[in-house]
Amino acid sequence: MGIIIKTPEQIEGIRRSSQLAGNTLKMIEGYIKDGVSTEYLDKIIEEFIRDNGAIPATLGYNGYTKSSCISPNEVVCHGVPSPDVILKHGDIFNIDVTTILNGYYGDTSKMYSIGEISDKAQQLIDATRHSLTLGIQQVFPGNYFGNIGFIIARYIQMKGYSVVYEYCGHGVGINFHEDPQVEHSARRNSGPKMQPGMTFTIEPMINEGKPRTKVDKFDGWTARTVDGKLSAQFEHTILVTETGFEVLTDVDNEY
Ligand code: MF3
Ligand code: CO
Ligand code: CO
Repeated sequence: MGIIIKTPEQIEGIRRSSQLAGNTLKMIEGYIKDGVSTEYLDKIIEEFIRDNGAIPATLGYNGYTKSSCISPNEVVCHGVPSPDVILKHGDIFNIDVTTILNGYYGDTSKMYSIGEISDKAQQLIDATRHSLTLGIQQVFPGNYFGNIGFIIARYIQMKGYSVVYEYCGHGVGINFHEDPQVEHSARRNSGPKMQPGMTFTIEPMINEGKPRTKVDKFDGWTARTVDGKLSAQFEHTILVTETGFEVLTDVDNEY
């Protein structure tokens, strides 16, 4: 295995796929309203990705049959879109999209909500988004991958939440899940060092309560908090540049 250093041509391909993934998250915003099913949103996501000449990477991945993961409230990740999961006023949920465009992968997710949400839900979302930003700021040549998780976990513990350690970020671009595993809770100066041309995700899952998760027997995918409390997640695909980072999935010029 080993961490793949991408060529300039590969980076341009990953950048284009990542921008499509980011634009998919932007597009779906307009379809979110009280009463829609996660299956309905998944179908629109699939159509948009195909209309743009790409395919959803999750389709057929390890037996997964949907074009996105949609994870409401206490679902930590890998929520399987279903006509039986209806989104309603007060819900918070993550939508995670991975595209394959001309063979290159882009992977990103963000939180959405419907109507008015509780203060505790909003605070969890804000802290999770900020933890990703802190992680991204640790991306520069020569830094240790462990410092991403070190900085995220330090901030999240200070906020009184917990970091999910059973799922990680990952190298991405030529394949869906490449080396290295990017931990969201890690020891300072641990793990491999970053080099220009590496591309990977940072995707912290942050729980309001206990960090542990449990996968539904029913579908073998949907991972929930063990205590039924809320969970939030944001994800970007990042490139290590000569001087720092480029957030390849950032279509809002947030970074
Ligand atoms: N997009 C997810 C990630 O961030 C992976 C989803 S795999 C699936 O790594 F099979 F659950 F869709
Ligand atoms: Co990912
Ligand atoms: Co993802």
